[in-house]
Amino acid sequence: MNQEPSPTACILPATEADLPAIAHLAGVIWRAVYPTIVTIEQIEFMLARMYALDKLRDEIRAQGIRFYRLIVDGQLMGYSSIGPTGTPGVCKLHKLYLRPELHGRGLGSRLLQHAEAEARGLGATRLILAVNKRNARAIAAYQRNGFTVAESVLTEFGGGFVMDDFIMAKHLKAVAPVFS
Ligand SMILES: CC(C)(COP(=O)(O)OP(=O)(O)OC[C@H]1O[C@@H](n2cnc3c(N)ncnc32)[C@H](O)[C@@H]1OP(=O)(O)O)[C@@H](O)C(=O)NCCC(=O)NCCS
Repeated sequence: MNQEPSPTACILPATEADLPAIAHLAGVIWRAVYPTIVTIEQIEFMLARMYALDKLRDEIRAQGIRFYRLIVDGQLMGYSSIGPTGTPGVCKLHKLYLRPELHGRGLGSRLLQHAEAEARGLGATRLILAVNKRNARAIAAYQRNGFTVAESVLTEFGGGFVMDDFIMAKHLKAVAPVFS
Protein backbone atom coordinates (compact mmCIF):
# COMPACT_ATOMS: atom_id res chain seq x y z
CA MET A 1 0.00 0.00 0.00
CA ASN A 2 1.28 3.46 -0.85
CA GLN A 3 -0.61 6.41 0.51
CA GLU A 4 -4.19 7.68 0.56
CA PRO A 5 -5.61 9.00 -2.70
CA SER A 6 -5.23 12.72 -3.19
CA PRO A 7 -8.26 14.60 -1.87
CA THR A 8 -8.17 16.67 -5.06
CA ALA A 9 -8.84 13.65 -7.28
CA CYS A 10 -12.07 13.82 -9.28
CA ILE A 11 -13.65 11.96 -12.19
CA LEU A 12 -15.22 13.90 -15.05
CA PRO A 13 -16.84 12.95 -18.36
CA ALA A 14 -14.54 13.23 -21.39
CA THR A 15 -15.52 14.83 -24.69
CA GLU A 16 -13.97 14.48 -28.12
CA ALA A 17 -11.70 17.41 -27.24
CA ASP A 18 -10.10 15.22 -24.55
CA LEU A 19 -9.28 12.33 -26.87
CA PRO A 20 -5.77 13.47 -27.93
CA ALA A 21 -4.71 13.73 -24.27
CA ILE A 22 -6.25 10.34 -23.52
CA ALA A 23 -4.46 8.75 -26.49
CA HIS A 24 -1.17 10.28 -25.35
CA LEU A 25 -1.67 9.02 -21.81
CA ALA A 26 -2.49 5.55 -23.16
CA GLY A 27 0.93 5.45 -24.82
CA VAL A 28 2.65 6.45 -21.57
CA ILE A 29 0.81 3.80 -19.52
CA TRP A 30 1.01 0.96 -22.06
CA ARG A 31 4.75 1.43 -22.69
CA ALA A 32 5.43 1.53 -18.94
CA VAL A 33 3.21 -1.34 -17.81
CA TYR A 34 2.66 -3.79 -20.65
CA PRO A 35 6.22 -4.85 -21.64
CA THR A 36 6.04 -7.55 -18.96
CA ILE A 37 2.78 -8.81 -20.45
CA VAL A 38 3.10 -8.60 -24.26
CA THR A 39 5.87 -7.75 -26.74
CA ILE A 40 6.83 -4.16 -27.59
CA GLU A 41 5.72 -4.88 -31.17
CA GLN A 42 2.27 -5.90 -29.98
CA ILE A 43 2.03 -2.81 -27.75
CA GLU A 44 2.81 -0.47 -30.66
CA PHE A 45 0.49 -2.33 -33.04
CA MET A 46 -2.42 -2.31 -30.59
CA LEU A 47 -1.89 1.32 -29.54
CA ALA A 48 -1.94 2.45 -33.18
CA ARG A 49 -5.14 0.50 -33.82
CA MET A 50 -7.03 1.20 -30.60
CA TYR A 51 -6.05 4.82 -29.96
CA ALA A 52 -6.19 6.32 -33.45
CA LEU A 53 -8.25 9.49 -32.98
CA ASP A 54 -10.71 8.47 -35.72
CA LYS A 55 -11.29 5.18 -33.90
CA LEU A 56 -11.87 6.88 -30.54
CA ARG A 57 -14.19 9.48 -32.10
CA ASP A 58 -16.17 6.70 -33.76
CA GLU A 59 -16.54 4.97 -30.40
CA ILE A 60 -18.15 8.13 -28.98
CA ARG A 61 -20.20 9.08 -32.04
CA ALA A 62 -21.37 5.72 -33.36
CA GLN A 63 -20.90 3.11 -30.66
CA GLY A 64 -22.36 4.87 -27.62
CA ILE A 65 -19.10 4.54 -25.69
CA ARG A 66 -18.54 7.03 -22.88
CA PHE A 67 -15.13 8.12 -21.66
CA TYR A 68 -14.23 9.47 -18.23
CA ARG A 69 -11.13 11.31 -17.01
CA LEU A 70 -9.44 10.95 -13.63
CA ILE A 71 -8.01 14.34 -12.72
CA VAL A 72 -5.52 14.55 -9.86
CA ASP A 73 -4.16 17.92 -8.86
CA GLY A 74 -5.46 19.34 -12.12
CA GLN A 75 -3.68 16.76 -14.32
CA LEU A 76 -5.13 13.92 -16.40
CA MET A 77 -3.87 10.82 -14.58
CA GLY A 78 -6.25 8.10 -15.75
CA TYR A 79 -9.30 7.31 -17.82
CA SER A 80 -12.03 4.76 -18.27
CA SER A 81 -14.65 3.96 -20.87
CA ILE A 82 -17.85 1.96 -20.90
CA GLY A 83 -20.34 1.08 -23.61
CA PRO A 84 -23.29 -1.06 -24.63
CA THR A 85 -22.80 -4.65 -25.79
CA GLY A 86 -25.90 -5.35 -27.82
CA THR A 87 -27.22 -7.53 -25.00
CA PRO A 88 -29.82 -5.62 -22.97
CA GLY A 89 -28.67 -4.93 -19.42
CA VAL A 90 -25.04 -5.80 -20.17
CA CYS A 91 -22.45 -3.03 -20.33
CA LYS A 92 -18.75 -3.44 -21.16
CA LEU A 93 -15.86 -1.74 -19.43
CA HIS A 94 -13.58 -1.08 -22.41
CA LYS A 95 -10.80 0.83 -20.70
CA LEU A 96 -9.46 1.40 -17.17
CA TYR A 97 -6.07 3.06 -17.01
CA LEU A 98 -4.10 4.86 -14.36
CA ARG A 99 -0.60 6.35 -14.51
CA PRO A 100 1.84 3.87 -12.89
CA GLU A 101 3.04 6.29 -10.21
CA LEU A 102 -0.52 6.35 -8.84
CA HIS A 103 -1.00 2.58 -8.73
CA GLY A 104 -1.60 1.06 -5.29
CA ARG A 105 -3.52 3.96 -3.75
CA GLY A 106 -7.06 2.84 -4.44
CA LEU A 107 -7.49 5.27 -7.35
CA GLY A 108 -7.94 2.49 -9.91
CA SER A 109 -10.72 1.07 -7.75
CA ARG A 110 -12.26 4.51 -7.48
CA LEU A 111 -12.27 4.86 -11.27
CA LEU A 112 -13.73 1.37 -11.57
CA GLN A 113 -16.48 2.03 -9.02
CA HIS A 114 -17.35 5.23 -10.85
CA ALA A 115 -17.65 3.27 -14.13
CA GLU A 116 -19.89 0.73 -12.37
CA ALA A 117 -22.14 3.52 -11.09
CA GLU A 118 -22.35 5.06 -14.56
CA ALA A 119 -23.22 1.67 -16.08
CA ARG A 120 -25.86 1.15 -13.41
CA GLY A 121 -27.27 4.60 -14.14
CA LEU A 122 -27.60 3.57 -17.81
CA GLY A 123 -29.71 0.59 -16.72
CA ALA A 124 -27.04 -2.12 -16.78
CA THR A 125 -27.31 -5.03 -14.37
CA ARG A 126 -24.08 -6.71 -15.52
CA LEU A 127 -20.67 -5.23 -16.28
CA ILE A 128 -18.16 -7.26 -18.28
CA LEU A 129 -14.55 -6.67 -19.31
CA ALA A 130 -11.62 -8.42 -20.99
CA VAL A 131 -8.25 -8.54 -19.24
CA ASN A 132 -4.99 -10.18 -20.31
CA LYS A 133 -4.42 -13.34 -18.27
CA ARG A 134 -0.92 -12.13 -17.34
CA ASN A 135 -2.14 -8.74 -16.06
CA ALA A 136 -2.07 -9.76 -12.39
CA ARG A 137 -2.43 -6.25 -10.95
CA ALA A 138 -5.54 -5.48 -12.97
CA ILE A 139 -7.07 -8.90 -12.27
CA ALA A 140 -6.47 -8.34 -8.54
CA ALA A 141 -8.12 -4.91 -8.73
CA TYR A 142 -11.14 -6.39 -10.51
CA GLN A 143 -11.42 -9.27 -8.00
CA ARG A 144 -11.08 -6.82 -5.11
CA ASN A 145 -14.12 -5.05 -6.56
CA GLY A 146 -16.27 -8.16 -6.90
CA PHE A 147 -15.59 -9.27 -10.48
CA THR A 148 -15.17 -12.97 -11.20
CA VAL A 149 -13.79 -14.82 -14.22
CA ALA A 150 -16.66 -15.79 -16.53
CA GLU A 151 -14.66 -17.29 -19.39
CA SER A 152 -11.30 -17.58 -21.07
CA VAL A 153 -10.90 -16.32 -24.66
CA LEU A 154 -8.14 -16.30 -27.26
CA THR A 155 -8.89 -13.59 -29.87
CA GLU A 156 -7.07 -12.74 -33.12
CA PHE A 157 -6.27 -9.01 -32.95
CA GLY A 158 -4.79 -8.72 -36.44
CA GLY A 159 -1.16 -8.30 -37.46
CA GLY A 160 -0.51 -11.84 -36.28
CA PHE A 161 -1.16 -10.89 -32.66
CA VAL A 162 -3.56 -12.66 -30.31
CA MET A 163 -5.16 -11.56 -27.07
CA ASP A 164 -5.16 -14.23 -24.37
CA ASP A 165 -7.82 -12.86 -22.06
CA PHE A 166 -10.16 -13.59 -19.22
CA ILE A 167 -13.65 -12.20 -19.54
CA MET A 168 -14.60 -11.02 -16.07
CA ALA A 169 -18.08 -10.01 -14.98
CA LYS A 170 -19.95 -8.45 -12.08
CA HIS A 171 -23.61 -8.31 -11.29
CA LEU A 172 -24.67 -4.71 -10.67
CA LYS A 173 -27.39 -4.08 -8.16
CA ALA A 174 -30.33 -2.13 -9.61
CA VAL A 175 -30.41 1.53 -8.71
CA ALA A 176 -32.76 2.13 -5.77
CA PRO A 177 -35.46 4.68 -6.58
CA VAL A 178 -34.87 8.01 -4.86
CA PHE A 179 -38.58 8.28 -3.92
CA SER A 180 -40.97 5.44 -3.33
C1 LIG B 1 -5.92 -1.65 -13.29
C2 LIG B 1 -5.53 -0.44 -12.45
C3 LIG B 1 -6.36 0.77 -12.87
C4 LIG B 1 -5.81 -0.75 -10.97
O1 LIG B 1 -5.30 0.28 -10.17
P1 LIG B 1 -4.48 -0.10 -8.83
O2 LIG B 1 -3.98 1.11 -8.23
O3 LIG B 1 -3.50 -1.12 -9.28
O4 LIG B 1 -5.58 -0.83 -7.94
P2 LIG B 1 -6.49 -0.22 -6.78
O5 LIG B 1 -6.94 1.13 -7.13
O6 LIG B 1 -7.56 -1.24 -6.49
O7 LIG B 1 -5.49 -0.08 -5.59
C5 LIG B 1 -5.30 -1.18 -4.74
C6 LIG B 1 -4.05 -1.00 -3.94
O8 LIG B 1 -4.09 0.29 -3.32
C7 LIG B 1 -4.03 0.13 -1.91
N1 LIG B 1 -4.85 1.23 -1.35
C8 LIG B 1 -4.35 2.32 -0.71
N2 LIG B 1 -5.34 3.12 -0.34
C9 LIG B 1 -6.48 2.56 -0.75
C10 LIG B 1 -7.85 2.94 -0.66
N3 LIG B 1 -8.22 4.08 -0.09
N4 LIG B 1 -8.78 2.14 -1.23
C11 LIG B 1 -8.43 0.98 -1.83
N5 LIG B 1 -7.13 0.55 -1.93
C12 LIG B 1 -6.18 1.34 -1.40
C13 LIG B 1 -4.51 -1.27 -1.66
O9 LIG B 1 -4.03 -1.80 -0.45
C14 LIG B 1 -3.91 -2.02 -2.84
O10 LIG B 1 -2.52 -2.20 -2.63
P3 LIG B 1 -1.73 -3.44 -3.29
O11 LIG B 1 -1.84 -3.26 -4.80
O12 LIG B 1 -0.34 -3.26 -2.80
O13 LIG B 1 -2.43 -4.67 -2.82
C15 LIG B 1 -4.02 -0.10 -12.61
O14 LIG B 1 -3.25 -1.15 -12.13
C16 LIG B 1 -3.62 0.20 -14.05
O15 LIG B 1 -3.87 1.27 -14.58
N6 LIG B 1 -2.93 -0.76 -14.69
C17 LIG B 1 -2.39 -0.56 -16.02
C18 LIG B 1 -3.51 -0.52 -17.03
C19 LIG B 1 -4.30 -1.80 -17.03
O16 LIG B 1 -3.76 -2.88 -17.00
N7 LIG B 1 -5.64 -1.63 -17.10
C20 LIG B 1 -6.56 -2.73 -17.13
C21 LIG B 1 -6.81 -3.13 -18.52
S1 LIG B 1 -7.95 -4.51 -18.59
